[in-house]
Amino acid sequence: MPSELSAKGSSSVCEVTCVDGPSTLSGMFPPGTNLLRALVEMGSEIEAPCGGTGTCGKCRVRVSGAVSDPTQEERALLDPDELRAGMRLACQTSIYGSCRVAPPDTHALTAPTILTEGRRQEVALQPNVREFGVTVPPPALDRNPADFEELLGAMGFAADDLSMPLPVLRGLSSTLREAGFFVRARLVGEEIIDLLPATERRPLLGLAVDIGTTTVAGKLFDLRTGHVLAVGSRLNAQRVFGEDVISRIQYASKSASDLRALQERVIAVINEIVVEVCTGRAEPRDIAEVVCAGNTVMTHLAAGISPQWLAQYPYVPVFLSPLSCRASEIGIAIHELGRVFFLPGIGRFVGGDTVGVILAAGLDMSQSLRLAVDVGTNGEIVLGSRDRLVACSTAAGPAFEGAHIAHGMRAANGAIDRVGLVDGEIRCHVLGEGEPTGICGSGLIDAVAVLLRAGIVEPSGRLVGADECSAELPATLRGRLEMRGGEHAFLLAGQVALTQRDIREVQLAKGAIAAGARILMRQLGIGPQRLEEVLLAGAFGNFLRRDSAIRLGLLPPVPRQRVSFIGNAACAGAEMALLSTVQRRRAEEIARRVEYVEISAFPEFQDIFAEEMMFPAGEPS
Ligand code: FES
Repeated sequence: MPSELSAKGSSSVCEVTCVDGPSTLSGMFPPGTNLLRALVEMGSEIEAPCGGTGTCGKCRVRVSGAVSDPTQEERALLDPDELRAGMRLACQTSIYGSCRVAPPDTHALTAPTILTEGRRQEVALQPNVREFGVTVPPPALDRNPADFEELLGAMGFAADDLSMPLPVLRGLSSTLREAGFFVRARLVGEEIIDLLPATERRPLLGLAVDIGTTTVAGKLFDLRTGHVLAVGSRLNAQRVFGEDVISRIQYASKSASDLRALQERVIAVINEIVVEVCTGRAEPRDIAEVVCAGNTVMTHLAAGISPQWLAQYPYVPVFLSPLSCRASEIGIAIHELGRVFFLPGIGRFVGGDTVGVILAAGLDMSQSLRLAVDVGTNGEIVLGSRDRLVACSTAAGPAFEGAHIAHGMRAANGAIDRVGLVDGEIRCHVLGEGEPTGICGSGLIDAVAVLLRAGIVEPSGRLVGADECSAELPATLRGRLEMRGGEHAFLLAGQVALTQRDIREVQLAKGAIAAGARILMRQLGIGPQRLEEVLLAGAFGNFLRRDSAIRLGLLPPVPRQRVSFIGNAACAGAEMALLSTVQRRRAEEIARRVEYVEISAFPEFQDIFAEEMMFPAGEPS
């Protein structure tokens, strides 16, 4: 038995204590509560890439106390010694009495590397947030003024050009008089959200946010100058409900409170970023507007709108149009009358983040053909030029984020992020320079590329055994081939190995992206030789090595100098839309113009996908 007791119903309320390094969390729950759910409610950062279906094995915790017996899923993923030592999958465990929980040692969370910078076009400053310093003529008997109309007249507007919400209108007359009729009016769009004495000079700020499935990044801008003041980022706290968008949809579809839990989690992350970027320089209420770029699911969830129909045939989102709402309506703690603008989406899962990438990379203005690939938890691909643009989304899955990979992890301390072959020996670089505890996406791509070059992985994806590899294979490599859990594996460093199943996961992810790119090229009737540039966006893309990606066939076979990294281009697109209403309109135009391609409906999709799961037989020329 893994725990002291498995007596069900032994307590009317169960206390759960979670000790993770220096921090201790605790909570009280009714018997029968799922442990993963309890940990999430207690504020634990536990990972649950499969969304609690018991298939990824990443929610391992060490438990002592009254809990349910191990399920079949746990017996499949944990070995008997681990079960005896109290290791459990939190998602498969129910609590029936007080218990103590600790993450396994290897789970110690280190700060992940989150990409916040992205290449973007320069824009002329013309934000949706404006400020007018005006002297309003004091009232006089010989006119018939009202304060509001006088203010608008002094600003050069007619009475119906602008609106003023009630809270501002209520304080208008006293503010005018206290300020001696010399005031500063702050507008978001056509609405006056604040009126201050002109002598009170407060920062005028805006925040651009990339709401990614895995990470959230925010940049604070001075809207008077267009300068970046601060940058903040966090892991998306929704990931405890699953690593990919489908798991999130499934969770959100369970009940209104589950949808609310997802919304609150991502909004809490944005609010943490707001506090972080404002600390020492401004107050959150100085932020008048937030512009968000997110995929369709993230946008729905942040707005508290159920994306449930996106997961069911024929996969329909509630909206794709640009969404603008008051920040307070969705809980973002900036100016109480400040607004949030979500970049519009293109189709199904291709959302505002892809519009952001197109905007930042200028694909809609490009004279030559360019392919942009955002290799995130979902893979979005755009191809075209100013004449025509097509886009699709591929179910690449979270393999490149480390999910479903035996030793997979994010790019954080302990992750092998680079693998090379030097003088016949494997060389691994470990983030943080310590002992390796896992492998992240870029390391994974490198490792498979190295093994392909060495003939240890065949183009079919088969990992050869020690007894069947070529006689020319150096002994240093041969000695790394071993059997793990009944399958072939290649030892990289420390205890970190790549298994046959890992290579299959890479093939699925790579196959999905490569098939998407090929179908888009077919759609435009072009081959890879016509591509002027292949742009890699997103955090993962930025840390990828071109040679490895091309060797795997993840990217079309183009000369390596045609591959460019554009970083967090989704966030860069949000920045452009924050800094300029012209760019915002351009984003709206992009969303209307880009043709969405449903690749699963493409007649030869299955054949193309199967072909693209194969690795190229040799080094692409
Ligand atoms: Fe528990 Fe995946 S196995 S979250």
